Amino acid sequence: MRRVGILTVSDRAAAGTYADESGPLAAAILGEQTAWRVERQAVIPDDLETIARTLRDWCEANLDLILTTGGTGFAPRDVTPEATRAVIERDAPGIAEALRAESLKVTRHAMLSRAVAGLRGGTLIINLPGNPKAVGENLAVLLPVLPHALDLLTGRPDSGQVHRDV
Ligand code: MTE
Repeated sequence: MRRVGILTVSDRAAAGTYADESGPLAAAILGEQTAWRVERQAVIPDDLETIARTLRDWCEANLDLILTTGGTGFAPRDVTPEATRAVIERDAPGIAEALRAESLKVTRHAMLSRAVAGLRGGTLIINLPGNPKAVGENLAVLLPVLPHALDLLTGRPDSGQVHRDV
């Protein structure tokens, strides 16, 4: 069972002027699979310190995976990638590259996401765009790869196995 946190970053959702759909959608998609247990879920404003503090707290709680949604674009308040960079110890650029590359097949606007991914201790942190449609599209790319990624991160004995593409 992998322990997951889902962090929605949105001024409007945090203020209650807009219902968060992306966080619950990500939780529902992961919740459909027995391998995942969503242990933390929160909605916070686009504030760099608040985002970074929440990410650090959740890493401290030894979550395996944290998915953020929102705040990756070009709007002046979009700082989720900067907060994530402040927290990660090792970059995982291939994940962000793959998500953008696959998303570009769906919409040219995918190039407007500045999302990053990286590792802090035993926790993998991945930024997703805020749009619920984007969350579904990105998770479809990510989910087949996440078990092996987390096996490697936790040094599980089978992590040296050759994994065939799915
Ligand atoms: N990626 C996918 N797969 N599908 C989408 O609809 N929307 C894009 C992009 N990535 C999108 C996507 C848009 S319109 C923007 S502005 C950026 O993500 C950043 O979104 P954010 O600021 O909500 O994080």
